[in-house]
Amino acid sequence: MSDEGSPLAGRRVVVGVSGSIAAYKAVSLVRLLAERGAVVDVAMTTAATAFVTPLTFASLTHRPVVSEVMALDPDEQIAHVELAEGADAIVLAPATANLLAELAAGLAGNAVTAMALASRAPVIVAPAMDAGMWTHPATLRNVETLRGFGHIIVEPEVGALASGLTGVGRLAESDTIVAAVESLFAHAGELEGLHVVVSAGGTREPIDPVRFLGNRSSGKMGVAIAEAARDRGATVTLVAGSMSVPAPRGVTAVEATTAAAMRTAVLRSAPSADILVMAAAVADFAPKRTSNSKIKRDGAGLQIDLVANPDIVAEVGEMADGVRPFLIGFAAETDDLEANALSKLRDKGLDLIVGNRVGGPFDAIGSEDNKVTVFGAEGPLTDWPMLPKRQVAERLWDLIVDRYRAARPPAGSRRSTRARRR
Ligand code: PMT
Repeated sequence: MSDEGSPLAGRRVVVGVSGSIAAYKAVSLVRLLAERGAVVDVAMTTAATAFVTPLTFASLTHRPVVSEVMALDPDEQIAHVELAEGADAIVLAPATANLLAELAAGLAGNAVTAMALASRAPVIVAPAMDAGMWTHPATLRNVETLRGFGHIIVEPEVGALASGLTGVGRLAESDTIVAAVESLFAHAGELEGLHVVVSAGGTREPIDPVRFLGNRSSGKMGVAIAEAARDRGATVTLVAGSMSVPAPRGVTAVEATTAAAMRTAVLRSAPSADILVMAAAVADFAPKRTSNSKIKRDGAGLQIDLVANPDIVAEVGEMADGVRPFLIGFAAETDDLEANALSKLRDKGLDLIVGNRVGGPFDAIGSEDNKVTVFGAEGPLTDWPMLPKRQVAERLWDLIVDRYRAARPPAGSRRSTRARRR
């Protein structure tokens, strides 16, 4: 296998190995990464050294292995911090149930967790454990926490386990893990120099100091889109409504939890944006009046007058050429996805619209996965299956980049003036 053309060529990848029988598989993983041209360092927990010796990894990588949390490197620097700061990517494989719990809790008691906590590089986690441990609510919760940190989980596979049982928990194949690492860099730099604005989450329209009109949007879809844009090199502004997930590292987050605040934030950032993706679920209506004091229950019902909120993305759609960013909206629909999405695309002046279903068996709101269809003015452009939201975001960016480049070729190209005039 050669490193020719591999997105891993010259990348610094730190592999963190924890104490599972699957630690022996990390040897082939390290070898594969090195064959693809990556500069590979290895950090190990003490338990991992009982399964594979540091010498094995050092022989493969020709680099010292860090297995002590307080170890110094040959330059007398703290070894796990040096690894953390130099890493382009971190791969934790195998990651035991204990390691997942430590990472989720932010513990740093060994060389692997200390290195991962100190780093701001993207982290890929490949768990390996007994099926019962993998499906325990505590582990599932820890995995969710790690996903919330933006870590990418390469799920364990079904097969024969060390316990002698068969089930889910086997470390994913080295090829699968390497593919996940490569995909981190496959599109690196593609959005370099571009400012991308993404809105995410729902808005909350206040009724009184404790109540609001809102929706169930978690922000997961918009956050995945922002993360993917960041990883492709864009400067990203995230206009964050009410979200159940944290804003990702490496983006500028602007909090905007009402439609009015979101309008201000979006209109402020749109003129400097090259691309705007409106994934937020903006409330279409807001109470006409907000009570300054908590409305009392008096036995009678309560009538709330609502007024229509401004359509933020439509306002951006009306901006003049040269100021208006390339514009992608979302359509959350219970019925007639195609007809509704296409009429929103036209009415709001969008370049693309992403249709997804809500309220039924394929509910996009709050879920980990989404099944979307992207529409252009000519009709549906995609036929994608249900995918994790991060994968939806990756495919979406592949499509957006193609369309954006076609509509706005780089300056100097003969088509650029005509295309921008539209
Ligand atoms: O956050 P998650 O839990 O991950 O869920 C993701 C999602 C389902 C919320 C997301 O994928 C989605 O569909 N977002 C758009 C939801 C929505 O408000 O759709 P809409 O059809 O009502 O609006 C159409 C477009 O107009 C959207 O781009 C919306 O951001 C925009 N809009 C809507 C109203 C308004 N007043 N101003 C707007 O800009």
